[in-house]
Amino acid sequence: MADTVTVTKGALQPLKARRPWVDAGMIQRTRGAPRTGSAVRLVAPSGEFVAWGLWAGDRRFPIRLVTWDPEAVLDGSYFRAAALASARRRARLPLQPPTDASRLVFGESDGLPGLVVDRYGDFAVMKRDTRCLDDYLTAMAEALLGELDLSGIVLRDEAGATVLAGAEPPEEVTIREGDLRFRVDLRGGQKTGWFCDQRENRQRVARYAPDADVLDVFCYTGGFAVAALSAGAKSVHMVDSSAEALEAARGNLELNGPNANWPMDQSDAFDRLRSLAEEDRCFDLIILDPPKLQPSHGDASKAEGAYLSLQGLAMKLLRPGGRLATFSCSGAMTRGRFDGVVARAAGDRSCRILERLGQPADHPILLSHPKSEYLTGLVAELG
Ligand SMILES: C[S@@+](CC[C@H](N)C(=O)[O-])C[C@H]1O[C@@H](n2cnc3c(N)ncnc32)[C@H](O)[C@@H]1O
Repeated sequence: MADTVTVTKGALQPLKARRPWVDAGMIQRTRGAPRTGSAVRLVAPSGEFVAWGLWAGDRRFPIRLVTWDPEAVLDGSYFRAAALASARRRARLPLQPPTDASRLVFGESDGLPGLVVDRYGDFAVMKRDTRCLDDYLTAMAEALLGELDLSGIVLRDEAGATVLAGAEPPEEVTIREGDLRFRVDLRGGQKTGWFCDQRENRQRVARYAPDADVLDVFCYTGGFAVAALSAGAKSVHMVDSSAEALEAARGNLELNGPNANWPMDQSDAFDRLRSLAEEDRCFDLIILDPPKLQPSHGDASKAEGAYLSLQGLAMKLLRPGGRLATFSCSGAMTRGRFDGVVARAAGDRSCRILERLGQPADHPILLSHPKSEYLTGLVAELG
């Protein structure tokens, strides 16, 4: 029999409204001794059924909810079906530009807590931020492999890359985004190997690139720079702290165009932005796509300060009329706060927002889980 958790009266409204995370403070009583991954039946103080979830063992959020269907049975066939349903929803999305690199499963937004699955051509990579689905990962991988006719699926975690179904991926897989090609290291690259959440933004930002001198800061393996060059940029200059990322970026430049010989600096972005200003360098288009600079909790004002200083350093390098394409992947940095940071950095320069940017449809935002909205960005024109 499943363990039963009684939640407080105050928790009923948000949980019935499909909030997928149960706070420790929402729990009134736990019957049984759930272990990580155990199915738990959530009930109201009256005994009325609320939802089914999985025990995650996390101190702040001990339970992740999965379904509000009282008849559901959380077992291998449930999770196989959920993974397939997620992949089938993706098959109906009009992803632009056409691509073979996309997110098949996006955690809570797809009813699979903490799990992401990214497809890269004939292979896929799984990652998770909780162990609560571990009993079902292989079943889900096998189901996806069969459904999508994939060659292999690996799980990435601190133990490295483990094949869950099918064959081991090659050292690099070449994916396409529209007319562009990129090599992705599924086993050693950052996150799952590639940032498919920036697919549409790379194309949108590239529209500002014709005849522009472009600075791609936090360039990783060159996604924005390659798109900018293919759209007619006059030059690109790339900055990243990772030597492996820059080596891969060079390879991606070679793969997509005749001239791969653009400057790349392996450096801390903040330091390099300062030294570029000392060298009196100027650009027409600057892209800032940093890693998460603001933790979900902790010292918010310090982290906001990092975003502020980054925007300010970049703006100093923009020619009058230049464009800044700037992003935050910190969920805590809401659109309004990000606007405020950019406005403060602009100071007495006029700053017009030309476009607002966000995450694509294969990273859907679950309205009852605001944390699923994490990528915010904008293109601003500086006077
Ligand atoms: C979100 S990824 C960028 C993704 C990239 N724009 C793309 O479209 O594929 C962030 C990048 O910042 C780099 N990075 C992290 N900290 C850095 C720092 N202090 N200075 C420079 N680069 C840094 C990482 O190596 C990573 O490549």
